[in-house]
Amino acid sequence: MDKFVIKGGNLLEGEVRVGGSKNAALPILAATILSEGKCVIKGVPDLSDVNTLLKILRELGVKAERKPNGDIETQVVDEKNSEARYELVKTMRASVCVLGPLIAKRKYAKVSQPGGCVIGVRPIDLHEKGLTLLGANFKYEHGYLIAEARKLIGCEMYLAGTFGSTVTGTANVLMAACLAKGKTIIESAACEPEIQDLSLFLHKMGAKIKGIGTHRLEIEGVKSLKGATHTVIPDRIEAGTFIAAGALIAKNMTIKNCRMDHMAALLDNYRRMGITIEKISPTECWVKRADDLKPVDITTLPYPGFPTDMQAQTMVLLTLADGISVVTERIYPDRFMHIAELNRMGARIRKEGPNVIIQGRQHLFGAPVMASDLRASAAMVLAGLVANGVTEIQRVYHIDRGYEKIEKKLCDLGANIKRMPDKAIKGE
Ligand code: EPZ
Repeated sequence: MDKFVIKGGNLLEGEVRVGGSKNAALPILAATILSEGKCVIKGVPDLSDVNTLLKILRELGVKAERKPNGDIETQVVDEKNSEARYELVKTMRASVCVLGPLIAKRKYAKVSQPGGCVIGVRPIDLHEKGLTLLGANFKYEHGYLIAEARKLIGCEMYLAGTFGSTVTGTANVLMAACLAKGKTIIESAACEPEIQDLSLFLHKMGAKIKGIGTHRLEIEGVKSLKGATHTVIPDRIEAGTFIAAGALIAKNMTIKNCRMDHMAALLDNYRRMGITIEKISPTECWVKRADDLKPVDITTLPYPGFPTDMQAQTMVLLTLADGISVVTERIYPDRFMHIAELNRMGARIRKEGPNVIIQGRQHLFGAPVMASDLRASAAMVLAGLVANGVTEIQRVYHIDRGYEKIEKKLCDLGANIKRMPDKAIKGE
């Protein structure tokens, strides 16, 4: 297991290029199960989560290869195995995105039930609800969910739950509806950019989808889907993380390959905090360290609201703001493992129910801390960059799930960050 050792205080300067979106690439790769022909997916980041899904796809009979130029080419060569094994699914909950395509194309899916994770219980009842309404039958056996469907028939459905719309649930139902007979209407569908990107890919494959980018998707089923070539959108969370780094400690930083139109809530809140973010072009912005960060109250919400995946990183900025901020988490009420770690670095944060109260201060100090999940790890890295002294972050495998070469990108900007094997926790 690796750790990061960060010596805080180096000013960042230069350009950084954001990679393709992990959360768009995963369902798009899963959608290739639906295809009759070859697909070429460009801009897929080289991340452990992507590699897990590629392994699952290969076991499901999809020839999936990464070419020297980074493109991923896929072709379904064998449809006999429709089982996604526990050993792979347990390492990544998002593996459940193969469910919809398998049911639609092969009429059968056996997928290990994803467990909870450190950010919450994360049920899949809405995936089951939508697919059941389309005609699938579900049963649960020995930790696996088994779904069968002789025929999927389009219908109207409402797909939100207590915490609003579901991103991967919408992806599963949308992918299945593309091959269902007749029309499906998904009300309260997720409209995240990653769902829009999946819809555009499905459209290139021959699917008929109306309402892309809205909470109402209308899908007219087709008999088959063909191969297609697609470039995934830039990762808005990686972009947001670099903007946060720039606001904390950059002399000047240009962020390339970021879709400004996908970050409206983040940009608005950051500007209210007194951060200067200049739009250079629709896919490029410039940011520098804010002299006086102002406190703000932030509530995470489904898109276009403030993304839960930027909550932890934003909290680092708020620990250094001049006053009290309140953060309310409306997607994952338990996604706060980073609080205790930030407090170990001198932050003053306390949790009261789903609200977190942050009393800003002048500085953070380096400390040994633990990465608990992907975005919490990114928050620890940001805190380490700005802290006085040395921060050691253990269990950085979490960050490798979602940020490609983050330490290299930060070093190129001038940060002092090293990846090292952590002997103390070896063999865990
Ligand atoms: C996606 O997870 C992302 N993952 C998450 O990013 C992100 O935090 C989340 O959307 C919210 O934006 C991927 O795209 C791979 P949801 P997903 O279904 O699809 C509840 C990261 O760091 N819910 O939209 O699993 C659920 O518990 C990851 O990259 C149900 O109640 O999230 C949550 O409270 C972490 N029943 C809310 O809905 C269901 O059947 C939203 O979850 C499904 C979800």
